[in-house]
Order: sequence, then C-alpha cells, then structure tokens
Amino acid sequence: MDKILITGGAGFIGSHVVRKFVSAYPGLQVFNLDMLTYAGNLENLRDVEPAENYQFIKGDITDREFIFNLFADYQFDGVIHLAAESHVDRSIRNPLEFIQTNIIGTVNLMDAARENWHSFSGKRFYHISTDEVYGSLKEGFFIESTPYDPKSPYSASKASSDHFVRAYQNTYGLPIVISNCSNNYGPNQFPEKLIPLMIHNIRNGKELPVYGKGDNIRDWLYVQDHADAIDIIFHKGVNGETYNIGGENEWKNIDLVKLLCKIMDMKLGRKTGSSEKLITFVKDRAGHDFRYAIDASKVSNELGWKPSLQFEEGLEKTVDWYLSNDEWLKNVTSGEYQKYYEDFYSA
Ligand code: NAD
Ligand code: DAU
Repeated sequence: MDKILITGGAGFIGSHVVRKFVSAYPGLQVFNLDMLTYAGNLENLRDVEPAENYQFIKGDITDREFIFNLFADYQFDGVIHLAAESHVDRSIRNPLEFIQTNIIGTVNLMDAARENWHSFSGKRFYHISTDEVYGSLKEGFFIESTPYDPKSPYSASKASSDHFVRAYQNTYGLPIVISNCSNNYGPNQFPEKLIPLMIHNIRNGKELPVYGKGDNIRDWLYVQDHADAIDIIFHKGVNGETYNIGGENEWKNIDLVKLLCKIMDMKLGRKTGSSEKLITFVKDRAGHDFRYAIDASKVSNELGWKPSLQFEEGLEKTVDWYLSNDEWLKNVTSGEYQKYYEDFYSA
C-alpha cells in the first residue's frame, strides 16, 4: 500500500492513529481528511505536521461530490474511517446530524472507494466502530456475535453504518474490516467526555456532574492501546471480520470520579478528600445504557493484541497531560463548547 486515507484524524482517537501511522510507516503517504468540527483540532497534530509522509485535507464526508473527486484525485489504497459525531448526549439533542455524518458519510466513502478501486486486490476499508452497538449489558461480556441492540441515536447511527459496511462487502465484495471498541481515555480527548470533563472541573473547582446515582459501568481503554489495535487489525485482520477491542477494565462511574478526585488532589497539592466534595448527582441521561464490557479474546488470540497500560498509570498520564496543556483546554472550552456546557448542564 502506498497511500492511506484516515478520516477524522484531527479528533481524539484519530490524532493518535495518524501519529502512529506517520511515524511507524515512513514509506506510506498518510492523508488526514477532517472537516474540523468542534471536536477536530489541528493542535492535536502539531508534531506530525512537518513529516514528509503526512498531508491534511479539510473536507466533509457528507459532501458526496467532494469525496468522489478526492478519491479520483488521490487514488488511496486504504481507508481507516474514524470521522463521526461521537458524543451520546449531543445525539439525544440532535439525531439528524448523527445520521448525516455517521451513516451517509460512511456510505459516501464506500461508494467513492468502489468507484475508484477497479480491482479490490490489496485494498482495504476499515470502519472504526463502538461497543455501544450491542446495547446495554446486565451480565457477561460483548462478543463479536452479540446481537445488535443500539439504544441511543448515536449508537443507532453507528450500528446502521456497521450494517452498511457489511452489506457492501456482501453485495459488492468491498474488502472491509470492522472493530468495535469500548470507552477510550487519554490525551487530546474533548472535555465533553466523562474523564476530561471531570479533570477540567476539578482543576477549576467546579461541580462534578454525575448522572443518576453514578452506578453505570464502562470498560476503559487507553487511547494509544486502541491505536495499536487499529494498526494491527488494519495490517493483519481478515477481510469481512469484526474485532472487539476493550480494556478488561470495568469501572462504576462514581468510583472512577472518586479515583480522579484522589489523583487530582495529590497532583494539585490539595487536602485529600477536598475535590470529592464537588461531586453533584444530576438528572440521568435519557435511556442511559447501564453497562458495557468487552471480551477482547478474538483480537488477542488471533492477532496478538493486548492493552499495555494499567488503568492507574494511564489515568495519571492523562491527568499530567491535561495539567500541562492548559492552553489546549482553554482554547477548546471557549466559544461553542462554553455555550453547550452552560445550556446542557443547566437544563
Ligand atoms: P471525536 O469526536 O473526538 O472526533 C471526530 C472527528 O471527526 C473530529 O476531528 C471531527 O472534526 C471529524 N468529523 C466529524 N464530522 C465530520 C465530517 N462530516 N467530515 C469530516 N470529518 C468529520 O471522536 P473520537 O472519540 O475520536 O471517535 C473517533 C471514532 O471512534 C468515531 O467513529 C467513534 O464512533 C469511534 N469510537 C470512539 C470511542 C471513544 O471512546 N471515544 C470508542 C469506540 C469507538
Ligand atoms: O463505549 C464507547 C463509547 O464511549 C464511544 O462510542 C463514544 O463515542 C464515547 O463518547 C463513549 O460514550 P459514553 O456515553 O460511554 O461516554 P461519556 O464519556 O459521555 O460517558 C461515560 C459515562 O459517564 C456514561 O455512563 C455517562 C456518564 N457521565 C458522562 C458525562 C459527560 C456522567 O455521569 N456525567 C457527565 O457529565
């Protein structure tokens, strides 16, 4: 492969994937297509910009004509598709945007690939998806054959795009692979998501809004471990297969927020227990999925991937990153996000 298109490369996970591919494969031209929504930020990629095998392209995956021209001009050999609207709470407020980006955008990319890939040999379309497509767990773990049961507009849009990706292989023979991952955390995550939101609020002495009773459970994975899994699956995964990726690291939200308070008190030299006082139980998310947990034994047994970081170590690295990137946080929390935050948390 000579040319690869990564979509959503200015976002949280995408920027780690771009960095990984640009540095690990100097012979590969890496193109990052991103329309720079509120969640996309070129600051995430400053260190990558000078690399000769890297190019940024600003563009919208919902713009079909633009996407078709792009594929015709660049003749990519492979696609790693991460561009999406990714926040569940925003999907509850504005589902249509999620349908447009996550479903129609995905179909546009696959149609452009089909049109330009005269032979499918050596080509690959890799769709990055989420464990939320499987719904809400009471017991056990999500495996690759768990029936889809999406419960939020976000997860319904991702489930739909997964179905389209599989349908394109079945109908047109498009060489696809899909992975469904659990909750990521780490540097560069937009502070609307639980972990960076809590870090930001603790730092600023603001209330820590925990939905419901804080009993919901998520399975957390460090973002660079996800980027490693994506690299392995892109290169070694079998066409048509799905791989679940997860951290085997389940945490009740309230326990995780308390752990963050403890780490932050230590880092900021505050009295132990002082940040916990900021915890405020707020109205629950509508249709809030109770638990996600991934069985990642397929990707581990068949492709040799395993998470590398212990959670406490990953959380400390994450907290350190946010504390030393004040400017980044200030920039992304001003403007549109400030309005969203005030509006959302005062409702
Ligand atoms: P993010 O919201 O941080 O970034 C999304 C990126 O996509 C942004 O850079 C944004 O500008 C870009 N984008 C949005 N709409 C676009 C459009 N129409 N055209 C071009 N670019 C557009 O998201 P993330 O958390 O990095 O998630 C990336 C992918 O991974 C998503 O597909 C998401 O569903 C999936 N995923 C995320 C997690 C997680 O915990 N964050 C877990 C599993 C899977
Ligand atoms: O599981 C993978 C998914 O993880 C990804 O597909 C999504 O893109 C990503 O956003 C994430 O979805 P969640 O809804 O699980 O993540 P979020 O950080 O929004 O919330 C994590 C948990 O914390 C969830 O149970 C809701 C709760 N929460 C969240 C926020 C923002 C709170 O209690 N308070 C909050 O203010």
